[in-house]
Amino acid sequence: MAIRRTPMVILIFLVFISGAQIATADEPVPAPWPHQFHALLFMNYSGDLSMIDLWYDWPNGRNFNIIQEQLGAITYDLEWNNGTSFFYTLDSSKSCRSAQLEVGILRPNWLDGANYLGQQLVNGFHCNVWEKVDFIWYYEDVETKRPVQWIFYTGREAHVMTFEVGAVLEDEKWQAPVYCFNKEKKSLSTEGSLREFRGYKGMAVS
Ligand SMILES: *[C@@H]1O[C@H](CO)[C@@H](O)[C@H](O)[C@H]1NC(C)=O
Ligand SMILES: *[C@@H]1O[C@H](CO)[C@@H](O)[C@H](O)[C@H]1NC(C)=O
Repeated sequence: MAIRRTPMVILIFLVFISGAQIATADEPVPAPWPHQFHALLFMNYSGDLSMIDLWYDWPNGRNFNIIQEQLGAITYDLEWNNGTSFFYTLDSSKSCRSAQLEVGILRPNWLDGANYLGQQLVNGFHCNVWEKVDFIWYYEDVETKRPVQWIFYTGREAHVMTFEVGAVLEDEKWQAPVYCFNKEKKSLSTEGSLREFRGYKGMAVS
């Protein structure tokens, strides 16, 4: 009995597997991030608004978030691929925190393996939507493949206002101020407007 059933089980299994392959082959995957780009992000965290100048620079192993709080301070959140991060202001307060993280900046293919959720109209853009590890929901324009928005599990929303592929910030701008180099290292885990990404990278490590 068991022996006779086996071919049927295998057949069902094969049908199931090939069905699954057909289904996933049809599903779009997120475009990898361009190796260098500049984006302006409009951020909304439960009504706390900010603008972020995001400079992603994979070949040089660096990522910069220049964060303008609404009618408030500007903070600079600079990450190197060797795990060193600086979080500072350039005003008279001269504050700076640095940290050594176990992981570097996001890889261009960091969205690999995201679950496809279908299409949605977002602020007038026809988007493909993915979710990754219950951490981030990512919306990409169906035609241009540009990101339109992403939403963290915390509810923090990033709306992509500009997306300049190939734009690179001059080297001088990546220099953390001197007062960053004579301070005790502290954890940055609760800092920064993209702090969720740190949690995400932490998950990738564990
Ligand atoms: C920001 O998000 C909140 C919900 O968290 C929403 O009520 C509000 O309208 C949003 N503000 C803007 C300017 O988009
Ligand atoms: C990582 O690179 C940055 C920029 O070159 C440098 O300031 C920092 O000291 C480096 N960190 C380590 C642990 O080497």
